[in-house]
Amino acid sequence: MSRYNPKELVRKSQEAKEQAYCPYSKFRVGAAVLTSDGKVFTGCNVENASYPLGLCAERTAISKAVSEGYTGFKAIAIASDLKDSFISPCGACRQFMREVIRSQWEVYMSKSDGSHELMTVEELLRVHLALMT
Ligand code: THU
Repeated sequence: MSRYNPKELVRKSQEAKEQAYCPYSKFRVGAAVLTSDGKVFTGCNVENASYPLGLCAERTAISKAVSEGYTGFKAIAIASDLKDSFISPCGACRQFMREVIRSQWEVYMSKSDGSHELMTVEELLRVHLALMT
């Protein structure tokens, strides 16, 4: 991420969180994905009365990028209103990130104050597998 400031990506994910449609969980999430050619797409969670149909912010942002023809990614930042923990992607989103992987990409998980923790998609998938076994 030499040409892009992670703080800037986190800030964009915080802005995207403002659009969250989450009347059921009241848990706002935003994401900002950085493509290989330096373009940023943002997304928020979009819930539905049929709960499983709801979309996470990460998948919204990635789908926006892919549907515009961008399939190579460098990084994604995720924001929520959690003060004390870094927001971490659900299993489905980790799998979604793995699908579109073109290189090792970075996941910036933030707290509400903008501080963040970095893990790669591969690391997150490894943690997820470890939790399931
Ligand atoms: N959610 C996300 O959008 N991203 C995450 O990383 C965690 C969870 C959403 C899904 C649902 O709309 C709400 O947060 C509560 O789980």
